[in-house]
Amino acid sequence: MLKIQNLDCGYGRMKVIDGVDFEVGTESVGLFGPNGAGKSTLISAIMGMVKPWKGSIELDGKRIEGVETHTIARMGVALVPQERELFPGMSVEDNLVLGAAYIPHAKDGIPEQLEKIFALFPILKERRTQLAGTMSGGQQRMLAIGRALMSKPRLLILDEPSLGLQPSIVTEVFEVLKGLKSSVSILVTEQNVRESLRAIDRGYVLENGRIVLEDSAEGLKTNPYVIKSYLGL
Ligand SMILES: Nc1ncnc2c1ncn2[C@@H]1O[C@H](COP(=O)(O)OP(=O)(O)OP(=O)(O)O)[C@@H](O)[C@H]1O
Ligand SMILES: [Mg+2]
Repeated sequence: MLKIQNLDCGYGRMKVIDGVDFEVGTESVGLFGPNGAGKSTLISAIMGMVKPWKGSIELDGKRIEGVETHTIARMGVALVPQERELFPGMSVEDNLVLGAAYIPHAKDGIPEQLEKIFALFPILKERRTQLAGTMSGGQQRMLAIGRALMSKPRLLILDEPSLGLQPSIVTEVFEVLKGLKSSVSILVTEQNVRESLRAIDRGYVLENGRIVLEDSAEGLKTNPYVIKSYLGL
């Protein structure tokens, strides 16, 4: 589905992503690493928001470097950004509908897709007329995920979905991701490695813009370096 080869990119003259090889197939993949490692930058490059300096990014065999973000979204990639990107003054339902409004393959099936999202997150159905900005942090995260799913993506990218949430909500978010695994490919960046390992098949560790480790969830869980640096045992 997604294949990145030998990618360099950054801001101004500062290189942030350095020779990264990275792949997501029909599976759920984690991208871990400390603050400033370049996780969000790598995602921005995939979404066409940061221009690659070198290397290639392919989606289903098509090169997408330099392709515009809205085109990448129409190709079936949806992003739940690190900073919530809701329209706070609009209702829950209108936020959801907007997730599909500009995506040709999703636009016609809005009522059906809305019901699917409401089944996944019953709280959103209950609060469908509430203004998004007045929902709790956890509810807004669910809404952001729901909105991304409204576009019927083939690849769902989530940038630190657990950020700022209390532990019980974090567990809930990862339960949802686990349930989605069979219907959509997932790429998730996380500081919370322990929780995400339950929801992913495979993961990468990114440090200073380089991939330093790549393994199955099981392999990462038992890797001494991961345990010491990311699982805090
Ligand atoms: N728009 C920008 N302009 C200049 N530098 C940036 C920009 N965005 C990020 N950076 C820098 O790029 C580096 C990587 O940042 P990035 O946000 O990709 O890291 P991250 O791994 O997502 O970190 P976090 O876990 O804190 O979200 C950092 O040094 C950051 O200061
Ligand atoms: Mg980030």
